[in-house]
Amino acid sequence: MNNKIKIALVGYGYWGPNVARNLYKNEEYEFAVICDKRGDRVKLARKVYANAVSYTENFNDILKDKSIDAVALAVETSAHYTLAKEVLQAGKHVYVEKPFTDNVKDAQELYELATEKKLKIHVDHIMVYHPVIKKIKEIIDNGDLGELIYFDCSRINLGNIKNDVSSMWDLSVHDLSIIDFLTDGAEPSDVMAMGKKAYSCKESIVFLTLKYEKFLANITSSWLSPIKERRLIIAGSKKMLVYDDVDVLNKLIVYDKGFNVEKLADMEYDEFVVKTRTGDALIPKLEQSDALYNSLEHFRQCIVQDKESITDAKSAIRMLKILEQADKKL
Ligand SMILES: NC(=O)c1ccc[n+]([C@@H]2O[C@H](COP(=O)([O-])OP(=O)(O)OC[C@H]3O[C@@H](n4cnc5c(N)ncnc54)[C@H](O)[C@@H]3O)[C@@H](O)[C@H]2O)c1
Repeated sequence: MNNKIKIALVGYGYWGPNVARNLYKNEEYEFAVICDKRGDRVKLARKVYANAVSYTENFNDILKDKSIDAVALAVETSAHYTLAKEVLQAGKHVYVEKPFTDNVKDAQELYELATEKKLKIHVDHIMVYHPVIKKIKEIIDNGDLGELIYFDCSRINLGNIKNDVSSMWDLSVHDLSIIDFLTDGAEPSDVMAMGKKAYSCKESIVFLTLKYEKFLANITSSWLSPIKERRLIIAGSKKMLVYDDVDVLNKLIVYDKGFNVEKLADMEYDEFVVKTRTGDALIPKLEQSDALYNSLEHFRQCIVQDKESITDAKSAIRMLKILEQADKKL
């Protein structure tokens, strides 16, 4: 018996081809079907995968096929809830692109449906599966940064402006998933946000500020920037780091920089001096792997080993709650 996970992909637009490529590469999957309601996209997929998979423009063909174990959804965010619900109702595990849904209520309903049917939901919070983020988690968990002081995240570029989600729901959700993962699910006590609707009915630039019990986070998302930035700064009491995903060579640098609090001999008991400390900068060795491949492989392992995904519906709901709170401030 073939015990590979038989999977179908729905959505072959901008991102779907990346999901397809990684499903095809993973020999532990039986990549069976590519579906897009647009004939031109199906035609394009057929040019790449020829007879390796089958094709359909009708999502129902996938639902009806009892041999398919799991479905990967790479459709517009506004379609995630309806399609994911139908996949679960058809008794199949579901991989959903980020953000999980466009509101907490729908996400909660999907979570309950999957739990009732004993099916897996894996949300592609892709950064959690990125080798740099895995390395940063190691650094934080080892205590190398000390107490976390703040996260400063910037995801800015020119276009593609979306109309079904704001830049915050589309881009900042990555940073929220990074913070969630690195801090083992810390939730903010205060959420502030400012944004501007330019060239869209949704905000195309948002400044999101979060207060957690022990640290702050400042998260910028924008489709209105002349330059591209994918940058994360984390400051700790011992060390600081910068992850610059646009930098080809030195993506991650850990700086032995910070402050020393010193007491001099002639000082009163409540006096001290704060001196800046500048030491070496370290470029850690990184595992060479593809985040999307890792994410899809984690989904497969969760099905095979009957375990919950690191980025399951519950963790996605934590992020959606922050986004909904932020929306109220915009
Ligand atoms: N993980 C990441 O880094 C990352 C990056 C980019 C996009 N995404 C996510 O991927 C998803 C898709 O984004 P995109 O930019 O590719 O969108 P897109 O609009 O380019 O493509 C979506 C495709 O889905 C198809 N589709 C929609 N409903 C369908 C249905 N019922 N049946 C069959 N086909 C259907 C559309 O025809 C379209 O071709 C979004 O949720 C987005 O947030 C994730």
